[in-house]
Amino acid sequence: MHYQSGVRYSAAGDIYVRKTSFRKIILRTMIILAIGAFFLYPLVRYLTAPPNMMRYLETVQISLATLPEGTSQLISYHGQPVLVINYHGNIKALSAICTYNSALLRWDNDREELVCSSHDARYDINGNVKAGLAPRPLEQLEVMVVEGSVIIGKS
Ligand code: FES
Repeated sequence: MHYQSGVRYSAAGDIYVRKTSFRKIILRTMIILAIGAFFLYPLVRYLTAPPNMMRYLETVQISLATLPEGTSQLISYHGQPVLVINYHGNIKALSAICTYNSALLRWDNDREELVCSSHDARYDINGNVKAGLAPRPLEQLEVMVVEGSVIIGKS
């Protein structure tokens, strides 16, 4: 009988079981884990995406007729307050949350600025800080006007 290394023989000598080396088991396990990670990672990232990434997947629509020039509307955009402002015919949508301490903002049309009543931070129509303690500009959302409808967010 011819004996081979890496092969285990039965007592009868005619039945054998091929031994798998520890190194091969580790290598196969690593390959399976690498392939699994390659396909699972994007899926896990998508499912656990923070709200900021998810918010651009949907839009909110309001009627332009409800937003005359110089007025604003406070809407909820994916759970976050957003001010939609008709600024001399240009529609703007800005986060209505003050970047200083998260108080709600309002649009002051006479002064043409967003105002925080909490500590008096002020922002211009593009969300830039004009005055106060606010450390960052406001987030500005994309707006489209289509056939009398204001669409906020990307489609
Ligand atoms: S929370 Fe806006 S200035 Fe204080």
